[in-house]
Amino acid sequence: MTPPVTAATTDATDPVLDYVRRAIADYPVVPVRTVYTEIAGIPRTITLKLEGHSPWRSVKGRTALSLIRSVADRLTVPGATVIESTSGNLGLALSAICRDLGLRFIAVVDQRQSPVIQKTIEDNGGELDWIKTPDDAATHLQDRLARVRELVRVLPHAVWPNQYENDANWRIHETWTAPELDAQASASAQVLFAGVSTGGTLAGLSRYFRRARPGLRIIGVDVRGSTVFGGVPRPRALTGIGASRRSAFLKPADYDTVLLVEERRAVACCHTLREDTGIAVGGSSGAVLAGALDYLYRHPEVRHVLCLCPDLGDNYAPTVYHPAWLDRIGLPADPGRLRHRTGAACPGFRAHDGQSAPTAPSEEDVPR
Ligand SMILES: Cc1ncc(COP(=O)(O)O)c(C=O)c1O
Repeated sequence: MTPPVTAATTDATDPVLDYVRRAIADYPVVPVRTVYTEIAGIPRTITLKLEGHSPWRSVKGRTALSLIRSVADRLTVPGATVIESTSGNLGLALSAICRDLGLRFIAVVDQRQSPVIQKTIEDNGGELDWIKTPDDAATHLQDRLARVRELVRVLPHAVWPNQYENDANWRIHETWTAPELDAQASASAQVLFAGVSTGGTLAGLSRYFRRARPGLRIIGVDVRGSTVFGGVPRPRALTGIGASRRSAFLKPADYDTVLLVEERRAVACCHTLREDTGIAVGGSSGAVLAGALDYLYRHPEVRHVLCLCPDLGDNYAPTVYHPAWLDRIGLPADPGRLRHRTGAACPGFRAHDGQSAPTAPSEEDVPR
């Protein structure tokens, strides 16, 4: 999917910028799927933007291209090494980009990271630098950032794009992800839900939609124990969503409300959605869905919502979709019992055709 970087295809004066330009031009329109449910006895429509159908399997592909573009002038030095703290998806995208550009890449990660993503980063030639924080600590991010700072100090030509503070993170979602979603989703949508970690996706979406569709309510979703919006950190099991620091990008004007959901409910939503529609999403998307169900329960006037789903379930076969992992976080593996945890009086989901839907996008999901 990634355009190869060769002498014939690059701009000799600026191979990195040329690469990013081409990758953005070749990026497919990421499909949406619509599912239906009934909450508090009222039919509701939920449009899922399935960013997992991107070339590097998550919304972070867009972020990675933008971050790399922002540091392009420092990447042409021989021996340049890209270093980033990541819970997985950004590392996966950066590892593929660095491989294509012939750059060394080090991902600073913690033990919660999906083994599937770890392997892909290594297959792409990326190096994993593990922090030793215990699995049940609440400070993985702070520890990863400390390690990045140390590596940047000791490694010559280290380049840290810094997804947590670099405005290139949110800007790409304002100029690209948001208009794409706007063109796909019907004008009837009343509320947009997005999860937060750095807050880049939500900030970018909001800054576009506040201007383009001021009537759209924008809701940030986080998990309990995360401190993106303040509070006291608590150990968390899901990766991708949440952080042990405040977002550098989000301002109160960017969202109408913030919803905090229990991680176990997020996981239960993943299972119920997969069981009912065949669509398997990652844990952060499950959190977004759980937040949307809660909101719909309290808002009978809302009939159509949009959910930004950062990735699919394929990365989480050994975690969110594995009975042993479910057991570890105190959830039953039985689908019927998991369904009870979905909550908000949601009887389940139906795909747009009333049938079980395949996870792969169908022709009709891709706008022309
Ligand atoms: C799976 C997943 N969900 C949600 C997010 C949150 O995105 P952001 O950092 O833009 O807030 C990420 C970011 O890494 C992610 O990987």
